[in-house]
Amino acid sequence: MTRIDKLTGFTGAEIRGLDLRVVDDETATTLLEALAAHHVVIVRDQNLSLGQQKAVTEVFGPLATLPYIDPLPDDAQVIAVLKEAHETDMGVFGGDWHSDFSFLANPPAGSVLAAVELPPHGGDTVWANQVAAHRTLPRDLRDAIDGTDAVHVGKPYGVRWAPPEEERSSASIGMRRGDPDADENRLHPTVITVPETDEQALFVNPIYTTRLAHLSESESAPILDELYRHATRPDFSYRHRWEPGDVAIWNNRTTMHYATNDYDGHRRLLHRTTFAREAPRR
Ligand code: SIN
Repeated sequence: MTRIDKLTGFTGAEIRGLDLRVVDDETATTLLEALAAHHVVIVRDQNLSLGQQKAVTEVFGPLATLPYIDPLPDDAQVIAVLKEAHETDMGVFGGDWHSDFSFLANPPAGSVLAAVELPPHGGDTVWANQVAAHRTLPRDLRDAIDGTDAVHVGKPYGVRWAPPEEERSSASIGMRRGDPDADENRLHPTVITVPETDEQALFVNPIYTTRLAHLSESESAPILDELYRHATRPDFSYRHRWEPGDVAIWNNRTTMHYATNDYDGHRRLLHRTTFAREAPRR
């Protein structure tokens, strides 16, 4: 018997009574409905093998193989999200608000993250619901972005935007610099339609969006800053305190997320898989 409890007013639900090690039709339906309704789904105590995690991911769409980040040496569809204990005073993968790889022509539709090894404190992940953010946008901001496109690029990891040497970032995730898929400017609608629900969602983020397509970077900056301030309000957010064995599944088109970097001196390892669907559309 499964039970679904909302975790906050706008973002996230925990499903209890589900065993993700074997995904039957009923489990798949529960997962699909919960993700469409709540944008982030948490299932605790799973301790999935990589094969089981991939099977869960495929409930939502074909497994994506991503450019630009080194996957596990023996599995091209799994990324180890890792920061080692000795990597102190440096940036962390996903350490600002973003939607995974929005700079791709067809960014992942969603991600599955499974906790393997966790610090004794910190390392939470925070998600913010971009449907709620769009629905509550002040009229002037809504008018400013209506019908526009935004430019996304693999900043700050691509060649053009590669951070200076002194801005150190965890080396535990290998970036393939010079990857044309990451360095190309790509356009996506600033507001997208969510295929599952026909709702609208904001689709810009501070890591990868450089400007609105019809404006320069300096002209776009005040509008984007205001959008981000609104879109990341705690009201729209859910902050997950990880326990070993937890699995989080999120809609990468209707949420942004943020990996908190507050556990220096401790190792943190999670396995991430992503699923594909059609490209974002207006
Ligand atoms: C990610 O951005 O996919 C990683 C999130 C996390 O490490 O919490």
